[in-house]
Amino acid sequence: MGKDVIVACDFSSAEQTLAFLDQFTGRKPFVKIGMELYYAEGPEIVRRLKARGHKIFLDLKLHDIPNTVKKAMAVLSRLDVDITNLHAAGATAMMRAALEGLTRPDGTRPLLIAVTQLTSTDQAALERDLLIREPMDQVVMHYAQTARAAGLDGVVCSPLEAEKVHGACGASFLTVTPGVRFADGDVGDQKRVMTPAQARAAGSDYIVVGRPITAAADPVAAYERCVSEFVG
Ligand code: C5P
Repeated sequence: MGKDVIVACDFSSAEQTLAFLDQFTGRKPFVKIGMELYYAEGPEIVRRLKARGHKIFLDLKLHDIPNTVKKAMAVLSRLDVDITNLHAAGATAMMRAALEGLTRPDGTRPLLIAVTQLTSTDQAALERDLLIREPMDQVVMHYAQTARAAGLDGVVCSPLEAEKVHGACGASFLTVTPGVRFADGDVGDQKRVMTPAQARAAGSDYIVVGRPITAAADPVAAYERCVSEFVG
């Protein structure tokens, strides 16, 4: 898969999601389904969007003992999503078990990427709550390298980290990057942002864009602008 824009469908119902996607006539954006929509609508929303021809990043961030994650991933593999994810904090055994569970009988599997540290965790929380004393960027790179060594395909990270992740883990290790805003747009609650063009220059493989598209007056135009700035 090449560079693409993934639209974060952060809606709480299938109705809202389908009404939003119905605006895209002829285009089938790559979509991200997160916990809110998945827990509201269950696996059926994945099947419906798949049947409509969308590629899907199922963002459920699994984190449990290896056996549980393996079995859960086996269930998700049958949903035929294109990308799914887990927390690298679950450690190597859990990541390997996840890959095993995700691999279908014919040997194919969705791409599996890791969350390193949540962007909501700052250095103070890292030290105070998690007792991790190293600087955040070292922690993120270490988690990315551990994910790569376990056989994963990439990480979710800030576009500001994409170049460093590629340096540490190789050019083909995927960087899927939220925190993207148009140069003339609202930053909202995102703190460290890049424009689609900057994310492209930084080497992001996929950008995940929510509100700059979903809350735009013209979501289709905002999506097309994102694609032309990021993919070219
Ligand atoms: O609306 P916005 O463009 O900020 O949406 C970004 C999406 O990426 C949301 O679904 C958010 O949960 C997700 N995300 C993020 N930062 C991370 C991981 C995921 O913004 N570190």
